[in-house]
Amino acid sequence: MWKTNISFGIKENERRKVSQILYEAFSEKFKPVFGSRKKSLRIFSRYINAPSILVARKRGEIVGVAGLKYNHVNWLKLSFFDAIREFRFAIFRVAITGFPLMASRLKGDLLLDVIAVSPEARGKGIGTKMLRFLLSFGKQRGLEKIRLYVICHNKGAKVLYEKIGFTTVRLHKIPRFWRNVFGFNGYFEMEINLNYNKNIE
Ligand SMILES: CC(C)(COP(=O)(O)OP(=O)(O)OC[C@H]1O[C@@H](n2cnc3c(N)ncnc32)[C@H](O)[C@@H]1OP(=O)(O)O)[C@@H](O)C(=O)NCCC(=O)NCCS
Repeated sequence: MWKTNISFGIKENERRKVSQILYEAFSEKFKPVFGSRKKSLRIFSRYINAPSILVARKRGEIVGVAGLKYNHVNWLKLSFFDAIREFRFAIFRVAITGFPLMASRLKGDLLLDVIAVSPEARGKGIGTKMLRFLLSFGKQRGLEKIRLYVICHNKGAKVLYEKIGFTTVRLHKIPRFWRNVFGFNGYFEMEINLNYNKNIE
């Protein structure tokens, strides 16, 4: 049985794999904004900020990825000027369709913005291990809270977060126009208070 190792950071030659895992898991969110699979993968590969990426590796292969916003640093470092360079006139479409995704702003200490495990590796405890790693990381750094947003129909992920100790603090509904674009009604804002949580470790 191979051990799963969790750590921060990726190598240059792992950018593509990380981008693929993220895109396959979140295509319903990213495709309407970035336009196509090819474009989304290019954006991820170029602008992923390696130190803000947490990965799970099995036999050296990446099987899980999490993107964080922490210390005001985003896992996807796409500036306004980068976006104009990448999208040119389509920037208006990107800004309008991407509006509800920007709502996942950093309010607390650490935002878990995305987490995904490769389809063939799901259901084997890798997601749980990554979340526990993140909780220990937050605790060690004296952070108060970890926050995340999960779309309403993603019941599996919500169950996982609740098992770890996250609780729902708010339901954010998205306006009708974006509901049609993305195919979901809204998302739950969840958080875990690291000072009081006993499930950690
Ligand atoms: C959500 C995700 C990261 C979980 O990773 P994972 O390695 O499969 O999770 P685990 O094996 O640690 O699962 C732990 C628990 O979560 C729950 N769970 C996870 N995925 C589930 C699903 N699709 N349906 C129902 N329950 C699910 C189960 O309660 C499971 O416990 P069990 O195995 O005792 O039944 C993974 O399924 C994934 O990548 N999904 C697609 C992307 C996504 O939805 N990310 C979350 C966005 S906020």
